[in-house]
Amino acid sequence: MLIIVGSRREGNSWNLANEIKKELDKERIHNEIITPGNQKIHLCTGCMDCDKNGVCDFTDDMKNNIEKINNNEVIMIITPVRWNILSGDLKIFMDRLNPLYSTKGLNKKKLIAVAIGAQGKEKYGTESAINSLASFAESAGMEIILTKEFNHCLNSKDILQNETEINEFIQNIKTCIAQ
Ligand SMILES: Cc1cc2nc3c(=O)[nH]c(=O)nc-3n(C[C@H](O)[C@H](O)[C@H](O)COP(=O)(O)O)c2cc1C
Repeated sequence: MLIIVGSRREGNSWNLANEIKKELDKERIHNEIITPGNQKIHLCTGCMDCDKNGVCDFTDDMKNNIEKINNNEVIMIITPVRWNILSGDLKIFMDRLNPLYSTKGLNKKKLIAVAIGAQGKEKYGTESAINSLASFAESAGMEIILTKEFNHCLNSKDILQNETEINEFIQNIKTCIAQ
C-alpha cells in the first residue's frame, strides 16, 4: 500500500500515517509513505502533452511517485481539511498524475480516503474533504474501498488522543486489503 500524506508538517496526517505504518510493518504488509509537499514537484502547466504520450515533460519527483503508484494496488490518501476541501499539496500532486489518465493507470486501483480536520463533523469539516477525494477517485476510475474522518484535530499530535479509533481503523484497513 502506498500512503500519501497531504500535509507537509509532522502533524496529524503524518502521525496517523506512521501509526498505520508501524502496525502494517509488524505483519510484514508492504507499505510506504510519501509526502508530496516535501518533494520537488513542478506545478502542472496544462500543456496536455501527457495526454498524447502518457509522459510529463518535467523531470522531478513525480517520476518516482508514478512508479510507486504503478507498483501498488492500494493507495491511501490522507488529507488535512483546508478551507473545507483537500490540501493544495494534494491537488498539485493529483494534477501531475494526469499522465496516468491517458494510460488508464489509476483505473481499478483501490483508494482509502482519509480526512482530518479541526472542526466537528457538522460544518466545514471532513465530509467535504472526503467528497473532494471521492471526486478525484471517480474521474480517475479508482474504487474507494474505505473512508475515514477524524475531527477535532487542530494541533499536530491531537490525533494521537484517538487511540481506540486509530486501532479500529487499522483493523479495517487490514480487512480491506486482505480482500
Ligand atoms: C489553510 C488552512 C485551512 C484550514 N481549513 C479547515 C477547515 O475548513 N476545516 C477544518 O476542520 N479544519 C481546517 N483547518 C485545520 C486543519 O485541517 C487541521 O489543523 C488538521 O489537523 C491539519 O492536519 P495536519 O496536522 O496533518 O497538518 C485548516 C488549516 C489550514 C492551515
